[in-house]
Amino acid sequence: RFWLNSSPNPSASSERPTLPNLSFPHTPPTPAVTMAAEQSAEHFRGQARLPGFAAPRRYDLRLTPDLAACTFAGSVSVSVDVAAPTRFLVVNAADLDVSPGDVHFAPKGSGQVLLPVEVTSALEDEILIIRFNEVLPLGEGTLVIAFQGTLNDKMKGFYRSVYELNGEKKNMAVTQFEPADARRCFPCWDEPSFKAVFKITLEVPCETVALSNMPVVEEKVNGPTKTVYFQESPIMSTYLVAVIVGMFDYVEAFTADGTSVRVYTQVGKSAQGKFALEVAVKTLILFKEYFAVPYPLPKMDMIAIPDFASGAMENYGLVTYRETALLFDERHSAAANKQRVAVVVAHELAHQWFGNLVTMEWWTHLWLNEGFATWVSYLAADRFFPEWNVWIQFLEESTTGFRLDALAGSHPIEVDVNHVDEIDEIFDAISYRKGAAVIRMLQSYLGAEIFQKSLAAYIKRFAYSNAKTEDLWAALEEGSGEPVKTLMHSWTKQQGYPVVSVKLKDGKLELEQTQFLSSGSEGVGQWVVPITLCCCSYSVQQKFLFRGKQDDFNLSGLVECQKKDDFWIKLNVDQTGFYRVSYDEELASRLRHAVETNILSAADRYGVLDDTYALCMAGKQKLVTLLHLIAAYKNETEYTVLAHAINTSLSIYEMMAVAAPEELVNMKKFLIDFLEPFAQRVGWDAKSGEGHLNALLRGTLLSALAELGHQSTIDEAVRRFNVFLEDRETPLLPPDVRKAAYVALMQTVNKSNKSGYESLLKIYRETDLSQEKVRVLGSLASSPDPDVVREALNFLLSSEVSKESGLYICAPRSDCSSA
Ligand code: BES
Ligand code: ZN
Repeated sequence: RFWLNSSPNPSASSERPTLPNLSFPHTPPTPAVTMAAEQSAEHFRGQARLPGFAAPRRYDLRLTPDLAACTFAGSVSVSVDVAAPTRFLVVNAADLDVSPGDVHFAPKGSGQVLLPVEVTSALEDEILIIRFNEVLPLGEGTLVIAFQGTLNDKMKGFYRSVYELNGEKKNMAVTQFEPADARRCFPCWDEPSFKAVFKITLEVPCETVALSNMPVVEEKVNGPTKTVYFQESPIMSTYLVAVIVGMFDYVEAFTADGTSVRVYTQVGKSAQGKFALEVAVKTLILFKEYFAVPYPLPKMDMIAIPDFASGAMENYGLVTYRETALLFDERHSAAANKQRVAVVVAHELAHQWFGNLVTMEWWTHLWLNEGFATWVSYLAADRFFPEWNVWIQFLEESTTGFRLDALAGSHPIEVDVNHVDEIDEIFDAISYRKGAAVIRMLQSYLGAEIFQKSLAAYIKRFAYSNAKTEDLWAALEEGSGEPVKTLMHSWTKQQGYPVVSVKLKDGKLELEQTQFLSSGSEGVGQWVVPITLCCCSYSVQQKFLFRGKQDDFNLSGLVECQKKDDFWIKLNVDQTGFYRVSYDEELASRLRHAVETNILSAADRYGVLDDTYALCMAGKQKLVTLLHLIAAYKNETEYTVLAHAINTSLSIYEMMAVAAPEELVNMKKFLIDFLEPFAQRVGWDAKSGEGHLNALLRGTLLSALAELGHQSTIDEAVRRFNVFLEDRETPLLPPDVRKAAYVALMQTVNKSNKSGYESLLKIYRETDLSQEKVRVLGSLASSPDPDVVREALNFLLSSEVSKESGLYICAPRSDCSSA
C-alpha cells in the first residue's frame, strides 16, 4: 500500500514559526482566514498545532495485532465536531498505511458518506491532510479510517517487546504514546488538549491477556482468536491511551472503596508484584484524600514490560513500568530497589490526578505534570516510610536540578514548544527536578495546609479538562492571598537561579543576589527569593521575600546572638528554597563549626556542603576550604548527608586525577581516612533489625572504598564474591552490598586477568532479575584497565544487552546511584 501524495514537507525549515498565543483552544482566527474556500493543504504544513476547526469527541478504536508477524491492522471511527467551515480534516498519523479508499466522513443525520478527493501525508509534520470536494456541514460527523502498521522494535507507538515463556521467546504488543506517538498506532488528534472518550476493542489470540485503560465489558471467542470489548473511558488525552497483549500473571488487591488494583508480571513472577501492589493501594487512598477527588477510573492495572524506554508511564488506568521500577524480590532486591519502586509507583499514580484528570494544555506546561508528580511522590513515600527520611534524600533531586541549571545552555521551566521533536528535550532535570524543587519552595512558603487546599480546588476546577501553569498559580493565589504569580514567574519563566551572598556588617545583614553559573561568570537573572533564616537556634525563623539586587536587613536579636561562642546564621533553612548561599568568611567558619558540633539540621548540613562544593567548582572558593569542610562531617549520622560528602569527595578525586595527579596519593589517603571509620562501624553484614538507611549507607560506603582501590575492602569483596559465585543464596553477599562487591571485583580485572569480568558476565546471564542485571552492567566498566573498559562498553552496546538496559545507564531521569 502507498500513501496518496506522500511527500515530505516542502516548506519545512529549521526555523519553526513561533506560536503567537500559547493558549488553546486557539482564539478563533478571523473569518477571512477561515473562509473554507481559501484553505489549501499547504496551510497545514509546518504548523506547531493542529487546526482548531474540527475536534474529536469520541473514538471507537479497533486493533488486531499479529504477534507472530509483528504487524497490526486497525480501524478508527471518530465522532468529530466541525466548528468552522472547512473542506479539510487534518489529523496526526505516522508510520501507518492508509489507502485513499480507507477514509470517509459521514456528517450526522445527512445519510451521506463523503469520500475525500485527496489524502496527503505530510511526513515531517506527521499529519494526514484529508481534502473533500465540498465544505463540511457544521456540527457532528463521523470520520472513519482503516489502517495498517508494524509492531516496531523502537519502544514507542504500538511496539513489540520480547519475553520468555517456558524457555521460548515470545512477542507481546505494548503501547507507549507519550509524548506524541499515539499517531503511530492510529490516526488521531494527538495533542493533550484534544480530549475525547475512547471505546477500545481488541482482536487477539485466545490464550493471551488483553489489557487497556478500562475494564473488559465482554469477550467473544471466535476460533483461535477472541474479541475483547473494553468499557468506554472518561474523556482523556491520546498520550494516555494504552493497549497490551501478552501472557501474564497478576496479584490483586482492592482499595477501601472497591477499586481493583492489579500488578501484572511475567508468568510465574507474580510474587514480585506484591510490594508495588501494597504501595499502590495505599497511594490511591492517600491521593484521594490529598486531592479531595476519588480515583476517577474503576480499576488500576500496573504492568512490568521487559523492553521499556523510560522508567514508567502513567497511562490512565494501565500504568506501564520497566521491570526494575515495579518488581521487588525479597531475596535479591536491594533497599535502594525497594525505594525506587515505592517512589516510581507514587509518581505514576499521582499523574492519575495531576496529568490525567487535569491535563497540561500544551507541552509548554509539561513541567507541571512532571515536577508536581516528582514532588508529591516524596510526600507519599514520606507518609508510608517515615524512617526513610526521603525529604532529605529529595535534596539530591534539587542538586541535580542545580547542576543542569547552572549551565549557560539551560532553559526555563516553561518553554515554547513548536514541533514534536522539541518535546522529548524537556523531559529533563529542569522539568522534573527543578520543577519539583520550586514546587517544594512554594509549598513551604505558603504552608502545607493552604497549599493542599488550593491544590484540591485547582483539581476540582480543571477536572476532565486542561490547565496551564498560570491556572495553578491563580488557584494558589486565591487560596493564600500571597503574590504567587509574581513570585513564581521569576522561577519558571527565566532559566537559572541565584546565589545569595551574605555579609555581616555593623550588626546588619547585607544580602546580594547574582545568577549562579558553574562557569564562574555572573548571569543577569534576578529572582523573587523567599529567604528564610535562623540565627543561633531553630526556634525562631525569619522569613521575607528578597526582590532587589542588594539589601540590608536589621535582624532582631542578632546583636545578642553574635555574642555567643557558637554563633551561627543559616539561610535557606532546611534547604527548601531553590537558591544557593555564599557566606562571608566569618559566617562560613561559624557554620563549619555548627556542622562539626551537629547543631544544624541534616538538611542544612547537606546544604552547607552542597553550596560550598558548587562555589568551589565555580572557582569562587578554595579547594582547601572545601576539604576542610568535608572533614567536619567525620561524625555524620544521616545517610543522605554522608552519601553526599562521599560523592563530592569522589568527584574531587576524579578531577584531581586529571588536574593535579601529583596530589592524588595525598587525596586518596585523606578520603580513605575519612571513610574507614564509617565502614568499620557499618561492616559488610546487616545487623539484625537495622534500618533501611543503614542498608543504603553500607552499599554507598563500600562502593566508594572499592572505587578508591582500598585494598582490604577489595580483598573482602573478592572473598565474599567467590562464595556467592558458587551459591547465589549465600548470606555473605546480600543484595545491598552486591554492587559494591562487583565494583571491587572489577578493580582486580585487567587485560591479562579477566576472570572477575567473566564471572560477572556469568551472573548477568544466569539471573532473571532485572535489578541484578543492572547491578552487573553498572559495575562492568569499573576496571582500571582502559582495554577492559572498552570491552565492557562494547558489551553494553551488544545485542545481548537489551535495548533498555543500555538506556538505563545513561537516561537522564534514571536513578544511577541505585544499587
Ligand atoms: N510521563 C513519564 C514517562 C515519560 C518520560 C514518557 C519521557 C515520555 C517521555 C513518567 O511519569 C515518568 O516521569 N517516569 C519517570 C520515572 C519517575 C519516577 C521520575 C521516568 O521514566 O524516568
Ligand atoms: Zn512523570
